[in-house]
Amino acid sequence: MRIDVVTLFPQLFDGPMTESMLWKARDRGLLDLRFVQIRDFTTDRHRTADDTPYGGGGGMIMKTQPVVDAIAHVRQGAPTNVPVILMTPQGRVFNHAIAKELSNHERLVLVCGRYEGIDDRVRQRVITDEISIGDYVLTGGELAAMVIIDAVIRHIPGVLGAEGAADRDSHADGILEGPHYTRPPVFDGLGVPQVLLDGHHAEIERWRRKEGLRRTWDHRPDLLRKAALSEDDQFALAEFAEEDAELMRRHGG
Ligand code: ADE
Repeated sequence: MRIDVVTLFPQLFDGPMTESMLWKARDRGLLDLRFVQIRDFTTDRHRTADDTPYGGGGGMIMKTQPVVDAIAHVRQGAPTNVPVILMTPQGRVFNHAIAKELSNHERLVLVCGRYEGIDDRVRQRVITDEISIGDYVLTGGELAAMVIIDAVIRHIPGVLGAEGAADRDSHADGILEGPHYTRPPVFDGLGVPQVLLDGHHAEIERWRRKEGLRRTWDHRPDLLRKAALSEDDQFALAEFAEEDAELMRRHGG
């Protein structure tokens, strides 16, 4: 997969995009990650990429022409349907399903805004999708682009060690993962659930599913409304509800 990032600050990507899994993906040729410096497409002596907003108000707005030209440059030779995605707090909110959907594309273009925003005509002319990584405002789209790249490439076959591991992540089937443990068997008086030490795989899978459901019930009950739940799952949830009710009866809430 090839991802082109259109940005005024390519150097921000140096650390996160050259370490660990990201680096392995690039090293193995599974990810071709490139950066385009918007300033290289400015036309004046001072390489000006921003200007004051029409109508007044604070902040600076990124100019249309350098961004549009930078995007046109990376799109040369790309299929016409390559997604050109603007990082913006006004976009659709990123999640597991969107990460998986984006991983099916051969190429992506991620456009990072800075300052107060980008002249809206960039959006009108060349942007095909707009993504937010959450309901808060970042100083620029670069961190959002890094989040998206990281989450997307987990879905490319061969990037993660165990094939298909991304399908077992939290959120993959709408519920969170349960707890994990490694050696030692006792830490500061805390043990490891016996079922994990016994080696019965079916039992372990059943336990993991139930603990994942318990986490979801406790931390993100909103996810349960959309999750695909088996009869066993429903049974487990009824048990948690009963446990909660029992606690309420004993402690009065
Ligand atoms: N740029 C600024 N804030 C952002 C957010 N929440 N998501 C994506 N891009 C952004």
